[in-house]
Amino acid sequence: MTGASFNPSAEPARRTIMAAAGAAGLAAALTACGSSDDSSGSATDNSGAGSTTQDSNGSGGNSSAGGGGSALAKTTDIPEGGGTIYKDKAVVVTQPTSGTYKAFSTKCPHAGCAVSSIADGAIVCPCHGSEFAIADGSVKKGPATTGLTAADITVSGDRITLA
Ligand code: FES
Repeated sequence: MTGASFNPSAEPARRTIMAAAGAAGLAAALTACGSSDDSSGSATDNSGAGSTTQDSNGSGGNSSAGGGGSALAKTTDIPEGGGTIYKDKAVVVTQPTSGTYKAFSTKCPHAGCAVSSIADGAIVCPCHGSEFAIADGSVKKGPATTGLTAADITVSGDRITLA
């Protein structure tokens, strides 16, 4: 009888130990799940850093949209049969006939002075009196022997821009 009484009490004790080991195993498994959650959190942080690159691409597009020629004048600023000198741009814009606009460098080809006035259909250099035609910049009066250098302009509506 004595031996028989040991066996039933020993089996539940073993089951208890096994159950405790199983609980410890579950706890370890839960801890492992917790640590994997942490690693997925840091992965989210990395994707956030990627969006910063997209922002810099957007600002690059905005700056390129501002390109184009620089505004110089309005067509109404240029008298027909005459012209206007823009000293800061070193350009003279003329309107030899209605609606036709020409532009030239203000640098006189004789000795490099800047032309300073327009009179009687001619662009006049103050240094030695050379005169140039408003229609094509050619020499009308010396001592200059070559005409003014043409400048590129674009007329769009009433806006004149330097190319
Ligand atoms: Fe213009 Fe001499 S520099 S006429």
